[in-house]
Amino acid sequence: MRPDDTCSPRDGEADTAAPLGGRSLVVYLGDGHEGWPEGSPVHALFAGRIGLAAMATGGNLPYRRLCREFGADLTCSEMVLADKLVAGSRAELPLLRRHASEAIFGVQLCGKHPDSMAAAAARAAELGARFVDLNFGCPIDLVVRRGAGAALLERPAKLGAIVAATRARVAIPISVKLRSGYQAQKPNALDTARAAVDAGADALVVHGRTREQRYRRAADWALIARVAASVDVPVIGNGDILTPWDLQTRLPGTRIASVMVARGALIKPWIFRELKQGRAWHPTLPERWAIMRRYYDFATEHFGEDERGQTRVKRFFLWHCGFWHRYRPYTEEDFRAAAPEPLIQTRAAAVVGEPDAVLLASAEASDHEIVWRRVLDRDYPVG
Ligand SMILES: Cc1cc2nc3c(=O)[nH]c(=O)nc-3n(C[C@H](O)[C@H](O)[C@H](O)COP(=O)(O)O)c2cc1C
Repeated sequence: MRPDDTCSPRDGEADTAAPLGGRSLVVYLGDGHEGWPEGSPVHALFAGRIGLAAMATGGNLPYRRLCREFGADLTCSEMVLADKLVAGSRAELPLLRRHASEAIFGVQLCGKHPDSMAAAAARAAELGARFVDLNFGCPIDLVVRRGAGAALLERPAKLGAIVAATRARVAIPISVKLRSGYQAQKPNALDTARAAVDAGADALVVHGRTREQRYRRAADWALIARVAASVDVPVIGNGDILTPWDLQTRLPGTRIASVMVARGALIKPWIFRELKQGRAWHPTLPERWAIMRRYYDFATEHFGEDERGQTRVKRFFLWHCGFWHRYRPYTEEDFRAAAPEPLIQTRAAAVVGEPDAVLLASAEASDHEIVWRRVLDRDYPVG
């Protein structure tokens, strides 16, 4: 394990992810709720932030590092299965590693047993996690059938028992990941939010879709705002954020304290810069190649230069191409034309013109191989 890749210790480094100072974001985040930064330090940790949401695969360490460079304040590990971690599974431990640049790094835990969730949280704290995030949003059949993840949205009392057991065991802050509900017709986020907060959660991450909806519908930000108004801990809104205009239309007048971005950050890791500055940034083609190369370099540093490492780097790189190709330089007019449908939910238009622009917009696996090869060989224009 390289020293800069360990989750622990935090080396006394400064909290470089200071709350957002940019005027544009202060306008939108926590509007109508000026108390957060002056409130408890735990609340301040989760307020005024633009975070990278927890993601299996997509939230790999080198990608988090890239997002951090573009301004992600909060980062989260890939989902860790609490039972496996506690049982000593070697597969889970690497997921708890963080890069030194990740100032506010949380470990996300999934499970249904209060004891093992609490024990896993204690392990994460020992290894240097700044907070733990308890995942009650995972929609995967395998997880839900076992009564974990989103299945617990149907059982607020059990959900509360898991939070309470974790609270009793660890001193680090606890965030709780919720969806608007389980069944499409029965959004119950107000109930699960209450159960989580009463049991000791310090913050809530609310993805505004039910488990049944998966990604079919637009996220319900009105419901996220209602949750934020109903609890006295910071609520981090999540769902469909792709452009600065998404924030500008969803946040004003709400008490939503922060936002987390998942697919938007996979499509364009520079989204954090855009959201913080409150304006779009359309990188040139050389800049886009350079960003991909930067990911390659970070991944190589993390996974290694040897054959085994490079096999993994390639696998992750090609996986990321599956999102990067969806990038389009949307304008505010595009945003208005699609509204109320979020742009991220619309089909990206075909790209014509410059061959490299067409290549980078291609969904074809064979084109992703070409992109990989060119990044590897540094065979691209420099700006
Ligand atoms: C590839 C991928 C993997 C994900 N894995 C997780 C996960 O492990 N834990 C979790 O809480 N959410 C996970 N999510 C859900 C996201 O954190 C987020 O809640 C959801 O995608 C909505 O945000 P978005 O509209 O910005 O994508 C994942 C999403 C994606 C796209």
